[in-house]
Amino acid sequence: MSILARGRRWPLVLLLSAGAASWLAGSAQAAAPGDALASYAERYAASCAACHGANGVSTQALVPSLAGQPSFYAVTQLFLFRGGRRDNPAMTAVAQGMSDADLRGFSEHIGKLAPANPAPAAGAATPPDKPALARGAALARQLHCTGCHGSDLAGGKQVPRLAGQREDYLLHALQGFRSAQRIGYTPAMSEALAGVSADALADLALFLSRFNSADAAAGSR
Ligand code: HEC
Ligand code: HEC
Repeated sequence: MSILARGRRWPLVLLLSAGAASWLAGSAQAAAPGDALASYAERYAASCAACHGANGVSTQALVPSLAGQPSFYAVTQLFLFRGGRRDNPAMTAVAQGMSDADLRGFSEHIGKLAPANPAPAAGAATPPDKPALARGAALARQLHCTGCHGSDLAGGKQVPRLAGQREDYLLHALQGFRSAQRIGYTPAMSEALAGVSADALADLALFLSRFNSADAAAGSR
């Protein structure tokens, strides 16, 4: 039986280099004083909201929503952008000038933004292709996506929320991992997607973008 089938969340942080892991773990725990957090809310409004949305819900093509992302995940990604390991010209430009305190401050602010359930863009768009949605749901089960991302697909710690993320961004992210153009801080995603077809990625992106964590949580009670 594959280790993934046990449905446990992996201690992925162990796969990071020891130095980065302890730095990131410290970042997630070190709570900024109230004043500092308020100043990052202001700085978010000035420097991030134009792309990611005032409340972290993106209405722009290929820009991810940040609302609902765990702060530990956000800090890992800002760290990767800053070092140029996650390659995106817009975000590298944004992250390059950030201090360690900035990485933490912005991530803490992101961790407090309430997720939009389901994604507003999804609700407004054309009704979903039902067979594709069903294929996406079956694939997510078969490929054990929930083993790491949670049965409500809301993520946690260093694993991102997927539920309600923009469909176009999800597809772009999945394609990036599969082609190894996006290098994660763990090989988890390229392994999860090995051998998955292009059509299957599109079905997964559709399913995840329409998934409502709140319904999933209510259904499991
Ligand atoms: C010019 C538009 C733009 C601005 C301004 C911007 N971002 Fe981004 N951001 C993006 C794009 C595009 C991506 C997705 C990059 C990719 O596809 O790899 C992204 C990705 C991210 C991610 C990773 C999200 C995920 O789900 O993996 C984080 C965290 C983030 N941005 C935080 C910030 C913060 C904090 C600021 C402000 C200091 C900011 N961004 C400003 C466009 C922007
Ligand atoms: C072994 C654990 C694991 C499994 C299984 C897994 N993921 Fe992931 N996933 C991660 C981690 C960790 C990240 C953060 C990527 C990084 O930077 O390393 C991630 C990132 C992602 C992202 C990027 C989100 C963003 O905001 O940029 C998407 C999309 C995603 N996973 C979808 C899936 C899908 C779909 C499946 C099932 C086919 C899956 N994952 C299975 C651990 C996992």
